[in-house]
Amino acid sequence: MNKIDIFSDKETYELIIDTNFQDILELLESTKAVIIDKNVFDLYNKDLKIEKDKIILIEALEDKKRPEYALEICEKLMHLNIKRKDTIIAIGGGITQDLATFSMSILFRGIKWIWIPTTLLAQADSCIGGKSSLNFKEWKNIIGNFYPPSKIFIFTKFLSTLKEDDIRSGIGEILKVHLLSGKESTNLIIQQLNEYKKNNSILSTMIYNSLNFKNRILEIDPLDQGERLKMNYGHSFGHALESATNFRIPHGIAVNIGLDIANFIAYRIGNIKENDFNTLHDLLFLNLKTSDFISFNFEVFIKALRKDKKNDLDCYNLIIPISYGEVALKSFKMNNEIEILVQEYSEKFYKGII
Ligand SMILES: NC(=O)c1ccc[n+]([C@@H]2O[C@H](COP(=O)([O-])OP(=O)(O)OC[C@H]3O[C@@H](n4cnc5c(N)ncnc54)[C@H](O)[C@@H]3O)[C@@H](O)[C@H]2O)c1
Ligand SMILES: [Zn+2]
Repeated sequence: MNKIDIFSDKETYELIIDTNFQDILELLESTKAVIIDKNVFDLYNKDLKIEKDKIILIEALEDKKRPEYALEICEKLMHLNIKRKDTIIAIGGGITQDLATFSMSILFRGIKWIWIPTTLLAQADSCIGGKSSLNFKEWKNIIGNFYPPSKIFIFTKFLSTLKEDDIRSGIGEILKVHLLSGKESTNLIIQQLNEYKKNNSILSTMIYNSLNFKNRILEIDPLDQGERLKMNYGHSFGHALESATNFRIPHGIAVNIGLDIANFIAYRIGNIKENDFNTLHDLLFLNLKTSDFISFNFEVFIKALRKDKKNDLDCYNLIIPISYGEVALKSFKMNNEIEILVQEYSEKFYKGII
């Protein structure tokens, strides 16, 4: 069992990895409501034994990640006679987390909740940081706030039922936080991902390290106003890829490719050496499969890249390496420079695959 004190703008709270499962069963018995991903409920309620009348099931679909659905959750909680002093438990992946965070923050202007993430992406990355991001009309992730849980419990045994793509998606985010945290963490993940390919029991160490690296960033910038922007490394290109492929690739896998594009640009403008780019490229490709390289519409990609939240009106603001193991926010005029480099990347690395 490992414990980490997680930083937030208010008080720190505890995250516990692989504690006694009995503790959770007691919590589930004492709470009045459990918000739980439907698939997780189907797979695990034989162990969790949550009583029927306290369950609020969540359909983990991107289209359900909306304020209207969060309000429905609030309504269900009111029907369960929840009072301001109660503590709610939420169980599931990133979609459940976004919906639970937002609902918990608005009900009674904020109610205590405990979070049990069940996907690798949520366990290794999104569970800390306290953010909610909901989709609204045609806009992705634009409604949200900060409302961390009072405690997080991670059980790595939930990961055994995840699809292989969802595991690789979580590894994409694990790679991101290691690569932006310095040379040492970069070299550590190179060694650990190679080891993981032979023996996946190292995954819980990778989760623990990722959370510690992210927590250091939260300590400096809990409200995402500067340092934490680094966590967006790989995301401008990842989001553009998600748009251009109609969300057919899981988020963390799009980020994984996005990291390689960001590194390619850094190499081509002289921030990192060719052999460093190659080292990182080999690492990032360890987590990718041929089927991730779906042909995409370049125009849609560039349109999405131009709309990225971090940009100014006429500048791309991209998180890219400024040296091996170090990233920073860099501005580029919205002329053809970046677009030509992305084109060059896709010709070099997508050609022959798609
Ligand atoms: N708020 C944040 O800080 C933050 C950060 C990153 C991502 N996100 C959001 O998270 C979402 C993606 O989250 P995700 O990748 O965790 O996935 P998810 O919540 O979409 O779940 C993926 C699939 O796995 C299923 N599932 C969950 N746990 C399972 C288990 N243990 N066994 C079997 N199946 C299981 C779900 O039902 C779903 O079908 C996106 O909407 C993204 O925008 C939020
Ligand atoms: Zn992400």
